[in-house]
Amino acid sequence: LRRRRGEADDATLHALCRRGDELFARFRAERGDEFSSFVPADHAGACAMLRELRPRADSFLELGSGAGVVTIAADLLGYDAYGIEIEPRLCDYARDLADEFGSDARFAVGSFLPDDFDAAAVLADADFHVTLDGTPAYDELGVGLADFDLVYAFPWPGEEELFVRLVREHGRRGTLLLTYDASEGFTVHER
Ligand SMILES: C[S@@+](CC[C@H](N)C(=O)[O-])C[C@H]1O[C@@H](n2cnc3c(N)ncnc32)[C@H](O)[C@@H]1O
Repeated sequence: LRRRRGEADDATLHALCRRGDELFARFRAERGDEFSSFVPADHAGACAMLRELRPRADSFLELGSGAGVVTIAADLLGYDAYGIEIEPRLCDYARDLADEFGSDARFAVGSFLPDDFDAAAVLADADFHVTLDGTPAYDELGVGLADFDLVYAFPWPGEEELFVRLVREHGRRGTLLLTYDASEGFTVHER
């Protein structure tokens, strides 16, 4: 992993979050009635969590990075930041947004589920939103889950356990998992 240090100011992060809101509106308009599991988290709150956790983590991975706002914020705050997203159009947005903000955040289209992780077993009987098919994106990025100090996801309700198990099985000792829930806010899970 590359090493890089940086401290974005609040105005830059605020502008990034605003662009994220605009991109979500554009995505919804382009998408029409077609369902997508993309819903952005509280991005200002995510930036605050990234600042708080920065002394404990150098590398960052977002699982399902949407339009890229949180991964780019992590990069601008000095993390080595990567995002994986199954929806190619969202990955295009994220790469353009990274260029716009002079960010080195790296994005790959594909799945955050490794081949040997049995997601269906965790999600059994649930009406789930995580996409189970798709090629894992780790090889393209040249990384594995165990390379990261901090992993972030915004699971749909009832799907948090999948991310906890994923990091437990594929992370390493000390990997932090940050999750967002619309009613509970942010939670840090220590492995
Ligand atoms: C609820 S949105 C969260 C977006 C962003 N992480 C945030 O916090 O604002 C979940 C995202 O995960 C993506 N996704 C779902 N299953 C995936 C998979 N198996 N691999 C990669 N991305 C996935 C969806 O396309 C969607 O963009």
